Amino acid sequence: MPGPAHRPAAGSLARALAARAVDRVAAGGATLDAALAASLAGVPLEDRDRAQVQALAYGALRWFHRYRALLADWVDAGPRDRDGLLEALLAVGLYQLDAAGQPDYAIVSATVDAARQLGQARAAGLVNAVLRRYRREGAAWVAAAGAAPDVAYSHPRWLAEAIATDWPGAAEAMLEANQRHPDLWVRVNRRRTDPGSWAARLLADTGVAASPAAGLPDALRLAAPVPVTALPGFAEGDASVQDGAAQLAAPLLGALPGMRVLDACAAPGGKAAHLLELADDALDLTALDIDPVRLARVSEGFARLGLAGGRAVAGDALDPAGWWDGRPYDRILVDAPCSATGVIRRHPDIKLLRRKADIAGLAARQGQLLDRLWPLLKPGGRLLYATCSVLRAENEVVVQAFLDREPTAVATAMGPLPGLAEPAGPGLQCLPGPGGVDGFHYALITRAGPP
Ligand SMILES: C[S@@+](CC[C@H](N)C(=O)[O-])C[C@H]1O[C@@H](n2cnc3c(N)ncnc32)[C@H](O)[C@@H]1O
Repeated sequence: MPGPAHRPAAGSLARALAARAVDRVAAGGATLDAALAASLAGVPLEDRDRAQVQALAYGALRWFHRYRALLADWVDAGPRDRDGLLEALLAVGLYQLDAAGQPDYAIVSATVDAARQLGQARAAGLVNAVLRRYRREGAAWVAAAGAAPDVAYSHPRWLAEAIATDWPGAAEAMLEANQRHPDLWVRVNRRRTDPGSWAARLLADTGVAASPAAGLPDALRLAAPVPVTALPGFAEGDASVQDGAAQLAAPLLGALPGMRVLDACAAPGGKAAHLLELADDALDLTALDIDPVRLARVSEGFARLGLAGGRAVAGDALDPAGWWDGRPYDRILVDAPCSATGVIRRHPDIKLLRRKADIAGLAARQGQLLDRLWPLLKPGGRLLYATCSVLRAENEVVVQAFLDREPTAVATAMGPLPGLAEPAGPGLQCLPGPGGVDGFHYALITRAGPP
């Protein structure tokens, strides 16, 4: 611990808290949201300092694979083998040097002090040496590593390879997009206002411009991030935060007023709310989710948006006997749990949490969801299968296998959606990249038979 005369450098606590969060993800397998909540619990911090902890943890995780490769090269045995927390702290410090928001000497001394705060006083010299060397030699080290995906794009090799196999022409743009901060997209509630008027209010209130996107009539892409509470009319339900690609789900499913609709994996409820908004709230919509904590957000969203046609129900979509009343649905949305490899820019922890071996299990569950929910659909009804994955194994492979084994299932054309999505087997794929949207897959399937 520092002696009485030592005053910790400003911001060292923020680095220490960020390092703990990064370690909880990298070594403990926690999600970044959970890791940040655990790190910040009970620590009295100003909002600005909390935001700094969050920004440091996100940035360090976004570039974690690069830093891990560098540390394995530069530090005997690699700090990971000795101490994950030290590796996490070094990642936070290296990220700060890359982000260059502060003079280098201030970053180095605050990170060294953070090592002491984390009970790593003996590593203070190592932290100091690595960060100073990075200032001198970091750029040359990265250049020498060339196109190795863990260094160039900070992705695990298995994932970079899977993306390159599935999307040979677009892989590089995708990996690069995954490393950028995501745009903030808003869905304007047309029951209350229109995108043009709302964008004018946003500009007047915050100085931030918002632009429309072709093929997404309710969507606006903001030129800079704005806190949710500063979005005009947010509390009154004028707008919601929702990525552009996610805003395709409701129009593709096409639920019409009077229909009975199931959203089988509904939380936090963005797509369910959009379905209701588009049908002027005149749906009988069951918003099902297995996670009651996440489900609470669905009800909150419906209340904020003044939507009465949706009912949040806790239940397992794989076991309809537990919650289904036996009356079939006109429309079903299956926004299936997936690898989330299309939303890495929002959730950089995905790159550490997912393993190659997870994909087969996810695909099996996705197929089961289709099998179990299909009998709940009326003849003539439509099911939209959605994932936020960019891996074909979870998308067209799952859908095609279902079409092959289910004689009443008929693939239904969508789009085209130029600039937003491209054909992928029987469905459509949005890719993270220049369009600024998340990676999403959609497949529309109609149940054969008279309606
Ligand atoms: C991709 S998220 C859904 C996002 C949501 N549709 C939206 O737009 O806000 C997947 C959801 O599926 C839920 N889930 C996972 N397995 C489930 C199951 N067997 N039954 C019902 N929900 C499940 C998860 O709790 C999670 O909330």
